[in-house]
Amino acid sequence: MRDWSAEALAALEAGLLEQVAESNSSTALEAARVAILGRKGNLTAKLKGLSGLAPEQRKDAGRALNRLKQSVEAAIEARKGALADRELEKRLEAECIDVTLPPRKMNVGHLHPLPQAIEELVAIFGEMGFAWAEGPHVEDDFHNFSALNILPDHPARQEQDTFYLPPDAEGLQKVLRTHTSPVQIRTMLSQQPPIRIICPGRTFRSDHDATHSPMFHQVEALAIDEAIHMGHLKGTLVAFLRAYFGIDDLPVRFRPSYFPFTEPSAEVDVGCDRSGGRLTVGAGKDWLEILGSGMVHPRVLQNCGLDPERYQGFAFGMGIERIAMLKYGIPDLRPFFESDIRRMRHYGFLPLEVPSMVRGL
Ligand code: DAH
Repeated sequence: MRDWSAEALAALEAGLLEQVAESNSSTALEAARVAILGRKGNLTAKLKGLSGLAPEQRKDAGRALNRLKQSVEAAIEARKGALADRELEKRLEAECIDVTLPPRKMNVGHLHPLPQAIEELVAIFGEMGFAWAEGPHVEDDFHNFSALNILPDHPARQEQDTFYLPPDAEGLQKVLRTHTSPVQIRTMLSQQPPIRIICPGRTFRSDHDATHSPMFHQVEALAIDEAIHMGHLKGTLVAFLRAYFGIDDLPVRFRPSYFPFTEPSAEVDVGCDRSGGRLTVGAGKDWLEILGSGMVHPRVLQNCGLDPERYQGFAFGMGIERIAMLKYGIPDLRPFFESDIRRMRHYGFLPLEVPSMVRGL
């Protein structure tokens, strides 16, 4: 542009200001800024044109052009602010939260009834002073059978439908433990009395129908000291069963029985009602067998290096699925081992239903 008259500069300024005013977004405004003030911008070109003027003309034209440049820059800044405000407003509008909408449904995880039952019984036995003990799932003959006084020709070996593993390099045939009782042996071999432990854990038997699964859970308890008698066994079990089922006057019956590892042995029944095809624990005139128990056999103590003249103890073992089914009214084993989320929602527990003897189960 060769014309340096005031009118020409005013027309140039008006044109540039219009270009700024017409930019309708930050991106468009930035493009306009580059087109005006960038290296190849038209105002930049005009400023470069100053060098071709005669010195006396250049001074006035330079001043006028600088003022024009400042005016355009100020307009760009102002427009930038306005556009940013507008864009923010638009975003806030788009992102606004409608607090009147109904909340989205939350999926809350549920605790499986087995760990729930384990937590409950651990809370009860924990407060009675029992510690948690564990043992391996693959056991040898000594811990699973012979130390428990179950000798090689004893029918219990067949009765328990044992899973045998192939013989190892030394020809020893290990088994999947058929009960949690081997943990008694491991504990007595590694700790000195007084001993009070429970061991919840997996057990395995080759048995599969509506009420049996080849893998199931038992909890074993063992107490060994110098003056333990059947009264302790009875008191502990009655207190446990009443706390677990939450029934203060739950009838509990001890019936003479036989286990190779206890002498005397007793099976324990709880009172129940079977009328109308439904089983209700704690009501009615029927009895339901729930666990096996007894005073630890002197030979078992000897097998673990304890002197039976000095030490006595009691032990008991029960199936966890069974006591969970009875307490929560679960009619069959399927919910325990099929990962069906619908069953879990129905039979599961909320994570915060943590049991305690003090606060109640
Ligand atoms: N081990 C037995 C079973 O699996 C249960 C049992 C009975 C455990 C009596 C004991 C007990 O500790 O004293 O059938």
